[in-house]
Amino acid sequence: MIGTANGLAVSITGLGSHVPDRVVTNDELSTMMETSDEWIVERTGIRERRIAAPEEALSDLALPAARQALEDAGISGSDLDLIIVATVTPDMAFPATAAILADELGAHDAGAYDLSAGCTGFMYAVAQAYGMLAGGLAQRALVVGGDVLSKILDWSDRGTAVLFGDGAGAVVLERVGQGGFLGFELGADGSGGLQLYLPAGGSRAPATAESVAERRHFVQMNGREVFKFATRVLVASAEAVLAECGRTIEDVDVYVPHQANVRIIEYATQKLGIPDDRVVIDVDRYGNTSSGSIPLALADAKADGRLAAGRLVLMTGMGAGLTWGSGLIEWTDGGRT
Ligand code: UT7
Repeated sequence: MIGTANGLAVSITGLGSHVPDRVVTNDELSTMMETSDEWIVERTGIRERRIAAPEEALSDLALPAARQALEDAGISGSDLDLIIVATVTPDMAFPATAAILADELGAHDAGAYDLSAGCTGFMYAVAQAYGMLAGGLAQRALVVGGDVLSKILDWSDRGTAVLFGDGAGAVVLERVGQGGFLGFELGADGSGGLQLYLPAGGSRAPATAESVAERRHFVQMNGREVFKFATRVLVASAEAVLAECGRTIEDVDVYVPHQANVRIIEYATQKLGIPDDRVVIDVDRYGNTSSGSIPLALADAKADGRLAAGRLVLMTGMGAGLTWGSGLIEWTDGGRT
């Protein structure tokens, strides 16, 4: 799916993020499995990640991020018409974590649901919220991207356990006078689904004593294949959305790629020809936070003063599905209509 934003102007008017307190360093992981700080830094660029407490669920991370985003936008929960939570680790399979958030935020008039598109979930959710706002179905939307992947990782599998972390980010979308989203490109290739998946616990393989004993409720990944896929789609999706919107890579002021691995980001950055100082990288501090990755990176970019009004921001996600998605936005400083 690809298209330019031809409807009403819609932008991000509020931004928030939240990560758990507990920092887990590579050295700490080295005491739990056969790995090393040297290997993890060299192959991934990750130095530490945040890991949720046993009692912490997704909504516990999403709620503070959402409150921050609402405050940043200067609105309250009761102003929201729509809440979408992009995640693969909801509090429960159902009810949706978005409905739990709606209740906690006092968003009594909002439609609220979860969306599953792996690490691309945030881009899918933003595109969907954009469509509802631009089409006039909603006035104000809250989009949360967040995951607590530590809960579904096999902590004896060094091939996955060292890569991920927990965190959530949230954005408020509203109509604005000018600027805002220019276009989106979203895609999925289900033939690659088994390269990154959770084998059991769904209707294909419900939970049994055997499925638990066989550790089939944990993430399984073919790292090399996902790496090849990631480098390909990060470049292709970014180029596609730029071309569709009549922009070039030189126009991009801030590039926010999915934070999975510094090597993947560097490959994409070089191929696309984006100067390093325009690229947002925080995977060294958070690891891959899945749906939380892009909004957390946006929040970091904002804290660094990089998201000034008028700047062109390119975001590209990729992940389980396999899925990918890009969005191009001319940043606005509030300015809702
Ligand atoms: O949102 C999308 C989520 N997933 C991704 O983005 C993952 C994409 N893939 C990757 O980032 C990389 O493929 C990995 C970081 C997962 C692996 O890096 P790699 O350079 O592709 O390593 P590899 O799988 O080719 O493994 C190289 C070696 C192997 O040892 P041998 O067979 O050469 O003796 C692995 O067993 O590194 C070993 N290895 C480790 N060693 C220390 C694998 N994981 C570890 C580890 N610590 N944590």
